[in-house]
Amino acid sequence: MIDRLHHVGIVVHSADDALGFYRDIMGLEVAVDEVVEEQGVRGVLLPLGENEIELLEPVQPDTGVARYLETRGQTLHHFCFSTDDIRTELARVRDLGIELIDQEPRYGLAGEIAFLHPRSMHGVLVELAQPRPDAHHSDAKGIDHLAVRVADYEAAKARWNEVVGVEESNRFDVEAAEIIIGQFPISQTVIELIAPASPDAPLAKIIEEQREGAFPVAAVEVADLDTEIARYRAAGLDVPDAEVGTLPGTRRSTISAEQSFGLGIQLLEYV
Ligand code: CO
Repeated sequence: MIDRLHHVGIVVHSADDALGFYRDIMGLEVAVDEVVEEQGVRGVLLPLGENEIELLEPVQPDTGVARYLETRGQTLHHFCFSTDDIRTELARVRDLGIELIDQEPRYGLAGEIAFLHPRSMHGVLVELAQPRPDAHHSDAKGIDHLAVRVADYEAAKARWNEVVGVEESNRFDVEAAEIIIGQFPISQTVIELIAPASPDAPLAKIIEEQREGAFPVAAVEVADLDTEIARYRAAGLDVPDAEVGTLPGTRRSTISAEQSFGLGIQLLEYV
């Protein structure tokens, strides 16, 4: 089975520069830092509770990751989910008719890995990983939630259910924004599917222009939002004042993706 979000992968120009944020300011530790020659990337894994942030820096031109960086700039690349049996999962997913990028598991930074095609996952590049036996392990909460924009809520819900095994735990109709937000927990992380409430909603136009896909933001729960905002400001970052969150009982602020190397970090406080 698929049991948790393993990591969020982001493509960066320089892993060293990105470490200046993720390690030196955010305070994460480096668990793995190596060059995977056949993929032409330097990969760095930084545990964040039970999840990780994966930095991918192309070290050769003309690889998939290098082209991604060239066309889209530093940004979110993929979500990776962990399983204890990647061969069984890959066969199961193939039998569902999901388009695979990797027909067989291969060596990757996170263990034995395989990618599913984003065409089959409403625009999200999904990696499955069977972690190395000696991999970092934590039971602490890491990423609170990730958000994906989808055109057809019911179709996306069914697909995420059959592939990743997640089920809707809550659904909010946010009338002011004309969106539907569905929450799909996996271990301590929630995948949010966000869909336009009607064909005329602003999000429907955004999806027409930018397609379906993941928002390049990861939300991390903090105990004291004001303390965190002050801490990041003291490190020289431009962090907005706290505001009321979209979902009830939350306050938030966000470190922009421009400052955190392609992945916005939303600081989220439950009040
Ligand atoms: Co990855």
